[in-house]
Amino acid sequence: MALPSNPLLSRLGGYPLAAFQDLARELRAQPEPLHDFSIGDPVEPTPPFIRAALVDGIPETSQYPTAAGLPELRAAIAGYVARRFGVVVDPDREVLPTAGSKEAIFHVPLALVDPHGERRAAIWGDPGYLVYERGQLFAGGTSEPVALTEERGWRLELGELPTDRLRAACVAWTNYPHNPTGATVDLDYHRRALSTTREHEIVLCSDECYADVHPDSDRPPSLLQAAADGPGRPDLRGLLVALSLSKRSGMTGYRCGALVGDSDLIAAQRILRPNIGTASPEPMQRAAVAAWSDDRHAEQRRALFNAKREVMLAFLRDAGIRVSGSAATFYLWFAAPGGDDAAYAQALLRHRIIASPGRAFGPGGKGWLRLALVPSVDGCRDAAAMWADAIAAGSLPGHD
Ligand SMILES: Cc1ncc(COP(=O)(O)O)c(C=O)c1O
Repeated sequence: MALPSNPLLSRLGGYPLAAFQDLARELRAQPEPLHDFSIGDPVEPTPPFIRAALVDGIPETSQYPTAAGLPELRAAIAGYVARRFGVVVDPDREVLPTAGSKEAIFHVPLALVDPHGERRAAIWGDPGYLVYERGQLFAGGTSEPVALTEERGWRLELGELPTDRLRAACVAWTNYPHNPTGATVDLDYHRRALSTTREHEIVLCSDECYADVHPDSDRPPSLLQAAADGPGRPDLRGLLVALSLSKRSGMTGYRCGALVGDSDLIAAQRILRPNIGTASPEPMQRAAVAAWSDDRHAEQRRALFNAKREVMLAFLRDAGIRVSGSAATFYLWFAAPGGDDAAYAQALLRHRIIASPGRAFGPGGKGWLRLALVPSVDGCRDAAAMWADAIAAGSLPGHD
């Protein structure tokens, strides 16, 4: 019997590098040490005070969470936005807790796309986080990836796109600090993007889940700051910012994030989301209140990632491997020695080092590789030493 199925599942479902993934899985199952830089899910423990807030938040009777989230959580998110970006938002109308930022990114287009309308496209940068495209397609829209380049600092410059491409779009996604390249932008970038999307009546969504993972000297700005340029309250028309505790607080498993922005767009999400039922369970929301209300633990995590970044950056530079972007996030982005990212990733696997080939993030990533700074500082040192030995022994391609 041929069961009905959405053709998008077979089109998008498979991972483009199945053979690479199979080999990586095999290596993970073996007892020998493995240096796994492939998955953006760090292993440092979640701070104890956050875990305690979760446990304390378990009620005697657990009932359905609401789509609007706990008022205390909305207030804690608004408090974070005020401290981190200096922007005052209304916790009841301009803030919406979400179950991590991924589901929020996936669901945003469901409230934006008219599947029969003329403006159905999502603009996003390639290489990039593929969920921008996937949410749009499942919502009945279309995808307009824009190739990012090293020459342009991996920036998606919306104002440089031809007018017909802008006119076909209902939403544009920016993501700085950027996955996979680690590139950052300044406040002027956000101002330019917002002015373009407002001129063309496009919703501008800024995915800022790495806003708190950066070197001490370089604090990435938010789109929210670009909206707060004048005196008084910010003008949040036509924009949404996606935030997350996953990277900031080591809470990937808690599924806690937020959308902040235009009150009409937030209201539309509030109408949409009870249909889906994705709100974080309330004990998780209590843990999230604790995490959004504290900055010290985020600073400590930042210091740890900075130490790992320094170890791996020093190694890559000493090895003569070209690094690009890599200004923030816990990713390093480097040009494949020899030019072929898939071949280089495959060769590293033989030395029990797993790095992601850039093409896993879209065709624009070809020729590059991403290292996620997941191993410990000592693990990074060990991996760097092994990698250097392999280069010296001539067993990695492209180092002549
Ligand atoms: C660019 C980007 N956006 C969003 C997410 C989703 O994060 P979460 O759902 O854990 O908040 C990730 C996760 O790796 C990401 O890299």
